[in-house]
Amino acid sequence: MFNVGLIKFRKIHREEGDLTPIESLRDIPFEIKRVYYIYNVPDGALRGAHAHRRLHEVLVCLHGSMKVDCEFCGQKVTYELNDPTVGLYMGPYVWINMYDFSNDAVCVVFASDYYDESDYIRDYSVFLEESKNMFRL
Ligand code: TYD
Repeated sequence: MFNVGLIKFRKIHREEGDLTPIESLRDIPFEIKRVYYIYNVPDGALRGAHAHRRLHEVLVCLHGSMKVDCEFCGQKVTYELNDPTVGLYMGPYVWINMYDFSNDAVCVVFASDYYDESDYIRDYSVFLEESKNMFRL
């Protein structure tokens, strides 16, 4: 699945603790224009349930754990994120479902553009139709 994948970040380990630096266009494969985080997720919540038309994102679970189902061009992969040195890259036309958040989960997302609701596809059948036209499925 070329449009989705894990990125391993550096960990600078010291006796005083660990540090992971993230630099735009170096550790993340695009220029970061927006950062947001997800936290206080109640038990059983489903987040995501959308794809983006142009946006690139990298999701990092900084604390706790969560699962992400990704679907791209008919292929489906599930990731469990629980490591602050691992980011999940998701490009355009990836349908994302996020679930099984632990109570202490804190996730940060680095995005390639400002928030734009018109970039979202929130209807799964529209996602399938647009993907079919875009990638000649
Ligand atoms: P949404 O992207 O649907 O959240 P998730 O994928 O985590 O379930 O966004 C939830 C709400 O927050 C929606 O009303 C749009 C708003 N929002 C912003 O205003 N700015 C942002 O950068 C993001 C990501 C969401």
